[in-house]
Order: sequence, then C-alpha cells, then structure tokens
Amino acid sequence: MYIGRNYVNGVFEARRSEEKASFSLVSPANGNHLGDFPSSDASEVSDAVMIASQAFSTWKDVSRVNRADLFDTLSQLIKRDTQELADVISYETGKNRNESYAEVIESLHMCQYVAGQGRLPYGTVVSSELASKSAKVFRKPKGVVAVISPWNFPLAIGAFWSAAPAIAEGNCVVHKPSELTPMTSQMAAKLYDEAGFPAGVYNLIHGAEDTGKNLVAHPGTSCILFTGSAEVGMEIRRHCANTWHKTCSCEMGSKSATMIFEDGNFDLAVEVSVASAFKLSGQRCVSSSRLLIERTIYDKFCAAFLKEVNKLRTGDVFVDEDVYYGPLISREAVTKVEGYNTQVRSASAANEDINILSDDGPVPLGGNFLSPFVYQSEWKNLNERPFLREEVFGPHVALIPFDDLGHAIKIYNDTDYGLALGAVTDDFRKHRKLEEECDTGMLYINGGSIAAESHLPFGGVGKSGNGWKSAAGTYQAVTEEISVTTNYEEKMEWAQGMTS
Ligand code: UN1
Repeated sequence: MYIGRNYVNGVFEARRSEEKASFSLVSPANGNHLGDFPSSDASEVSDAVMIASQAFSTWKDVSRVNRADLFDTLSQLIKRDTQELADVISYETGKNRNESYAEVIESLHMCQYVAGQGRLPYGTVVSSELASKSAKVFRKPKGVVAVISPWNFPLAIGAFWSAAPAIAEGNCVVHKPSELTPMTSQMAAKLYDEAGFPAGVYNLIHGAEDTGKNLVAHPGTSCILFTGSAEVGMEIRRHCANTWHKTCSCEMGSKSATMIFEDGNFDLAVEVSVASAFKLSGQRCVSSSRLLIERTIYDKFCAAFLKEVNKLRTGDVFVDEDVYYGPLISREAVTKVEGYNTQVRSASAANEDINILSDDGPVPLGGNFLSPFVYQSEWKNLNERPFLREEVFGPHVALIPFDDLGHAIKIYNDTDYGLALGAVTDDFRKHRKLEEECDTGMLYINGGSIAAESHLPFGGVGKSGNGWKSAAGTYQAVTEEISVTTNYEEKMEWAQGMTS
C-alpha cells in the first residue's frame, strides 16, 4: 500500500503527528484500497506557502535561461519514466493505456516547450513618442502561484501545464492535486526533486476541499490556477475579487460538441465523433456530449455511429488491454451520470422526438463501469431537457439534428459554456463562419472536440473559462506585464507636448 507524503521545501515530509487526518485512495476499477494520503490542514498549507514565498526571493533572480534548462533535465526524466508514469495514471484513473501514454507525452511536450521558451524573448521593444527615450515591455513573475488541479489529467494539467510555465517564469508553486488522484502528482514531485529544482520552488500538498480552500484563501498566494468545476471556479473568482492583489485563471466545464455536415468526410466524422464522445469515458472537459448532425444525413450518421458504439468495450485496463474506455472516477460520478440518463429515459417516454439508441446501464465488473448512453433529440423544449445543456461528464451523448449552418451555430452557442468544437466539413466558407460565430475557445476543423496540444492556448469562453488560457497561455496568467521608459537626455522632455 502506498503512503503519500507532502513535498515541501525539497523534502517528502513524514507527518508531524499520527493524529493528523488522512484520506484513502481507492481504485475506480475494483474498489481496492491503493494508499493513504495526508489531508493537509491549515497550518500545513500555511507552511508550504511560506516556504514557497521564501524560495521565490532567490528563484526569481536565477536567469530565465538557467531556470528553463532545468525543464530540459525534467523532460529527459519524463522520457525515462514514460511507462511507469502511464501505468500510475491508469492505476488511479482507470484510463486506457494508450490515453495514459498520450497524457505523459502531453506533459513532456509542455516541459520541452518551457525549456525552449527560456531562450526566447519575453517582452518587446516599442517606440516612445520622444526620440530621447526608449521603451520596452516585459513580464515579471507574480510570486507564489497556487495550482489546484483535477483528476482527469492528473499528470499533465497540474504539475506540467500549470506549474511548469509558472516556475519557468520565476514563480514558486504550491500544488494541490485532486484527492481522487494524488499518486500521479507525487510521482511528478519526485521528478521535480530529481531534476534539481531548488528546495521550495515546487511544493505538493495533498488534501480535499478544505485544503484547497485554505490554499486559495492564504494571503501569501498571489495567483491561482484552477481547473475543475464551474461552481468551484466561481468561488475562487469571488475570493480573488475581494482581495487587492490576487488574480486567478479558471478552466471550467463545458458542453462541447462535434458538428457533422453533409459535405464532410463521412467516415472521418464517425471516427472523430466516437473518440470525442467516449475517450476517457466522456470525462474530458472537452468531450462531445452533443453531436450536431445535418438533417439530410441524420439517419445514416446515427446508424453508422451506433454500429461503432456497439463495438465499444469498457472494463479494467489492467485485466483487458483492449477496452476502449475504463471506469468512471467514483461511485458519485456513476450516480450523477445515471441521474442524467434517467432524466432522458423519462423525457423519452413523454416525447416522440427523444429516442434512446443505446442504454445498457452499469456494467457489473466490480468497479465504476457504465455502458454508453446514446439518444436522439431535437433541440427544443430546453427548460424541460436540462441534459441537453448541462455538463454530464460521462459516456452520455445526444444526437441532435440541424437544418443548416446557421441553425448548427445557434444550437452550439445555446449553452452557458463554450470550450471546444469539432466540425467536419470540406466547405471553406463554413470554416470561416464557424471561426467567427461560434462561442468557443478551441475549434478543430475536420476533427472532433478533443486534441489539445501543449504549445497552444487551451481554454474557453463563458462558463468554461475565466482568466487566461492554460497550457501555453499560462505565461500570461502567472506574470505581470510592466512597461519601462528610459530618458537618455540631461533635460526632461514630456510626452503629449507637456512642459515642466
Ligand atoms: C481536459 O479535457 O480536461 O484536449 C483536458 C484533449 C486533452 C486535454 C483535455 N489532451 O484532448
């Protein structure tokens, strides 16, 4: 059994008292007890923030090039440990092996990107209106950055997408990973340690909601990078609004979609739709829980999609290597998704346009397994059909017909969210309209709604994202932009024609 430890000031800490609270990590695939981790209390959170704050006073003065070089070392360690990291991701999340491997590679790519950025410009030289002056704009680190990360990408999002750019820019980090997947983050902490980052630059504290709240509320944190639910994100935003110095960047939920047009490649559309709806059991914030299909090919597409769905297998990825998707993360998640499925079942009994095409319910394999839930519905009577607009986060997908491009865009935009959109069409005029008129942070033309890359900004609009985009966009979130003008003359010349 694994004994989890916080990593603070370069040390994997033994708990100071046996009486302190801890929590258990349970396998989503078979309910086995995998380990115990500390529930860090307010004093432990405070110690970690103080350590990070002390480390910041020297880390910010290390040259950008040298800070970035450590990420080159970290990249090499990730390459060395790829298999082991992928195994632990699968162990904790139940994710299939191919997806866990891809997550490690996504983490590696962020490290490589950050390493390269160290030698690239981090500001600009601009003109002053006065010939006697020069002007430049550049970015400075904010201080202690709190990272609160989710369980669905336990390696990539917290330790790499969020913490790596923050640290490379000269900040120090206190990271609280999801209590559902603490082990992967502890592996990441070991790699930061081995790569030779100075003590206190990256700190890991385990815990659940209270630990996160204490971290957010600590006056020593100056920036919060959060990925998770819209409700928690809003709480964080409210907290920051009540301080004068704290900023936050919140990546939240979505009701993402893939649009399929008659003029697009049909087979490609089926392939990307299945992947976008069911990879990671539909538990990506970018998962397509809505497939919008042009009415002229609706019946043909639904039949072809269903044929593929009927081939999908779920199960324990350590027992059956070929399962398409693994378990949901927890019992609560199964209850939530089944709750939405039941709403659709009732609505289907009362409405002719709602037809359930696939519904075999929970799969009795000893873990949190659910079979695919697929249904058809018109985009109407939305107040009685919350499942069409709320985030479900599971293998649950609606097949919705549309009449033309304008109708498809209207349906896509008709939720509070706006994270990702896939669109399969070979019509370049439609591409332009979709770019301009869809309320989305990411548009994948001739792709599905999943496919993030580390060097691109990742994030949404509306209820999906507030603040700066993550991944490559994190640079903005963790720095303050300042402008500097220098006067080279003995006498003062003022801008705007002002006189002394
Ligand atoms: C997330 O869904 O929470 O876009 C992150 C993708 C992923 C990243 C998703 N690699 O497919």
